[in-house]
Amino acid sequence: MQKRQIPASGGLTYGGTSRNEMGMTQAPSSSRPLRVTRAPAPLAGTVAVPGDKSISHRALMFSALAEGETRIIGLLEGEDVLRTADAMRALGAHITRDENGRWHVRGRGLGALTEPSDVLDMGNSGTAARLLSGILASHGMMSVMTGDASLRRRPMKRVTDPLAGTGATFLAREGGRLPLAIQGNATPAPLDYRLPVASAQVKSAVLLAGLNAAGETRVEEPVPTRDHTENMLRHFGAQVAVEETPEGGRIIRLQGKPHLIARDVTVPGDPSSAAFVLVAALLVAGSDVVISNVGLNPLRTGLFTTLREMGARLDITNERTEGGEPVGDLHVQASSLQAVDVPAERAPSMIDEYPILAVAAGFATGISRFRGVEELRVKESDRLASTVALLEKNGVRTKVDGDDLIIYGTQGAIPGGGTVETHMDHRLAMSASILGLVAENPVEIDDTAFIDTSFPGYFPLLNSLGAGFAA
Ligand code: S3P
Repeated sequence: MQKRQIPASGGLTYGGTSRNEMGMTQAPSSSRPLRVTRAPAPLAGTVAVPGDKSISHRALMFSALAEGETRIIGLLEGEDVLRTADAMRALGAHITRDENGRWHVRGRGLGALTEPSDVLDMGNSGTAARLLSGILASHGMMSVMTGDASLRRRPMKRVTDPLAGTGATFLAREGGRLPLAIQGNATPAPLDYRLPVASAQVKSAVLLAGLNAAGETRVEEPVPTRDHTENMLRHFGAQVAVEETPEGGRIIRLQGKPHLIARDVTVPGDPSSAAFVLVAALLVAGSDVVISNVGLNPLRTGLFTTLREMGARLDITNERTEGGEPVGDLHVQASSLQAVDVPAERAPSMIDEYPILAVAAGFATGISRFRGVEELRVKESDRLASTVALLEKNGVRTKVDGDDLIIYGTQGAIPGGGTVETHMDHRLAMSASILGLVAENPVEIDDTAFIDTSFPGYFPLLNSLGAGFAA
């Protein structure tokens, strides 16, 4: 994988985004359109994808709340995570990157973050904005958070409504959108909250507010969502108990005011990034690819289950546990795929994978149905609408039936020839690029710059397997 130089500070350029003299991230300066043509040959080789985005955000935030110095190995150096690093610095944590690519965070200790002197700009990242809200609500200070045009469209009431119960106050734009002003409470009340939507971000915001609250914080989720917050809080010394409900949900109980102590964190490769390489290898005829060191947390691997149901030749080897999370290597070979019916309960374990699964379903034989995918409407773009447009513009028929997405497979003959609008959505851009590798006619993508939010080095990595992108 191509490595980039990440400045600890200084006016260097990182991806499509520049960093000013304080090392703070600036908005992407220009768009990067791309024309994608068919892969010239089968994809072959072994690659490692960048670190997990969810785990990387949490590692920076939790270590900033801990006492002592945490070392983070394999941190995702994508724009979203760099925003979190900037924000935690602005809140008083000391964060550096050494010459070996390891990150060092000297935390402030729980309740001891300092008031930021400027607006916190979370860029494109919903995870950064929502998780940080929980931390800011439970510290006795005033802060203002904003984001880019995509993030400023996304709903924040889903976190500010429960967090108001701590005694914090919020002032937001119409519809509860960013910019958001937060007057935190130094003595927050512990929350008892049942999630109305299956969202790990909302669960995490409530749990993080509970860290600085005396007593027990309780969150009930009707369907289990990714549990990186629970796992990593335990790793840093918090008491977190999890109980399954008879209905298949979970109840999480956190004891407030834990003594959080710095602990090293090893970040596995992101299964949501591996998804793009995996589907490319399944669809480009004759491909044989290994993706090493991929996180295999069962609450993240719904795509692997689904692709296997479609007939994917996908083996997991070298399974092991690293940094408290299961990891393994994915061996994938080009396969002829059949349509699939994805149950709604599986959505949380593959919520970010629907756009690339839609490309696989468009290439497959038969009619696929993705059930209960309403949450796609509030991602970096309205992903239900943008995924439909991606397919339709390239000759794949679709239908939205209530909250279900139906895709009419082309039996390996996606016409292509469309121009795709990515709406500041990294996963749409990557999905469009994989569709272009297997379509009959070239595909135009309006902007690939946002891929840097989650997958720096995306095009060089796929080109090392033989994809032949002109990027
Ligand atoms: C994430 C949770 C998911 C996911 C996002 C990362 C997290 O969002 O889409 O990319 O790290 O907690 P929701 O909680 O809104 O489903």
